[in-house]
Amino acid sequence: MDNVIKHIACIFDLDGVLVDTAVYHYQAWKQLANTLGFDFTHAQNEQLKGVNRMRSLDMILSWGGIEKTAEEKEELANLKNSWYVAMISKMTTDEVLPGSLKLLQDLKVAGAKIALGSASKNSALILERTELAHFFDAIVDGNAVSTSKPDPEVFLKAAELLGAKNTTCVVFEDALAGVQAAIAGEMKVVGVGEAENLPGANVWVKNLSEINVAEISALIN
Ligand code: BG6
Ligand code: MG
Repeated sequence: MDNVIKHIACIFDLDGVLVDTAVYHYQAWKQLANTLGFDFTHAQNEQLKGVNRMRSLDMILSWGGIEKTAEEKEELANLKNSWYVAMISKMTTDEVLPGSLKLLQDLKVAGAKIALGSASKNSALILERTELAHFFDAIVDGNAVSTSKPDPEVFLKAAELLGAKNTTCVVFEDALAGVQAAIAGEMKVVGVGEAENLPGANVWVKNLSEINVAEISALIN
């Protein structure tokens, strides 16, 4: 099995998979919407997961029936990000989600290649605060891509940096847009969350404590 896992590349989404930041994104967007005089539902928030900052803002403004100029949108996105950064700046290693640390350690010991495939432009700060940066052989985040999930660009770039064929990659995702991106990239997907929210994944787990190296390896072979 060890030999097999060496030929597997694991690509992890960050927010909501490795760390508990999805809740901070929600709080900051909600605060912004409330400031503009409206609110959005949990179901709508689900649609924002995995989606980059400007596209998220466009979706939220459309829910509120609000139109803004490009310049105003830039200001609103910056405002939301300033609130969000204030929250993640205080993060600790306690906010690494259950099972994430052990799985990364086990994959490392087994010799798997590991990449980050995240839409976030704040990944460096989060990885630093949570002390996870050293696990990654490659990091592809929102600063490195020009399209948003469900486009597969972020995962294809990660595979390329790892020197891995896309068909030997396993993606770990909590967002529907991310699952769709992995499928578009012809990769296997572990859905982190409910099957009904993440159709198309190969397997679903509540968190990464529910999957191990042998089960990941079995997805590819
Ligand atoms: C994704 C989150 O990981 O990153 C989205 O799921 C978020 O909710 C996106 O909008 C971009 O994040 P950031 O940190 O660049 O605003
Ligand atoms: Mg996510």
